[in-house]
Amino acid sequence: MSQIKESASFIATKLTGDKPALGLILGSGLGVLADEIENPVVIPYGDIPHFPQSTVAGHKGQLVIGQLEGKQVIAMQGRFHYYEGYRMEQVTFPVRVMKEIGVEKLIVTNAAGGINESFNPGDLMLIQDHINMMGDNPLIGPNEEEMGPRFPDMSQAYNRELITHAEKCAEKLHLNVQKGVYVGNTGPSYETGAEISMLRTLGGDAVGMSTVPEVIVANHAGLKVLGISCISNMAAGILDQPLSHHEVIETTEKVKQDFLAFVKEIVRSLP
Ligand code: 6GU
Repeated sequence: MSQIKESASFIATKLTGDKPALGLILGSGLGVLADEIENPVVIPYGDIPHFPQSTVAGHKGQLVIGQLEGKQVIAMQGRFHYYEGYRMEQVTFPVRVMKEIGVEKLIVTNAAGGINESFNPGDLMLIQDHINMMGDNPLIGPNEEEMGPRFPDMSQAYNRELITHAEKCAEKLHLNVQKGVYVGNTGPSYETGAEISMLRTLGGDAVGMSTVPEVIVANHAGLKVLGISCISNMAAGILDQPLSHHEVIETTEKVKQDFLAFVKEIVRSLP
């Protein structure tokens, strides 16, 4: 807790305007959204006391704080992945810091593989719910009651009002947005075809290597969460082609414009 407070007060000393009430976690290739933030205060993770450091290519590793569509926001341009070797506590540390700064709502984004065969690469998906397949949980260990309950409710892990709000935004922009269940795997290997058919049987629509830990901690901390997946490719066994990180980045590049417009409209029209 003291580390969270130290990180948060360091960030607070850099802030000029109002405190951000909206947090954004930007996934692979989606960090461009942070470039749209006006009057940005940019803080590299390396400058923030107790923050883990970012390692993966295509992930920037900085906080960007400023106005997006007239709202004060704090964005993570690059996140920490479990597969990089960070502990769950490290992966989710920035969510705790956001809460401490005063964030109430969190928009979490990622690139994910499509499991649902009616999806196409380039689709955007509103996350309705998730399945934690990471075999770990960031809340394991002693519970600090001031941070949240021992056994937090996850029945509305992805806030229903925020989903409805996002659906209205999609309609307004004439964007055909999918809805579905996100499966969180550890990676870093992609799934086999057999694993993907298993995940489909279990009710998964998209699969990725992030998001689940952050969303668990966000719920523990009482934050309202909206999750958006960019379906960057179909998962194994659907199309007769191998998966590559390159393809993930390439498709994300193509949907960038839709993604940007969508999130900006969501933020702009947020009550
Ligand atoms: Cl197919 N699987 C996982 N675990 N993560 C992904 C993906 C697939 N495509 C993009 N990210």
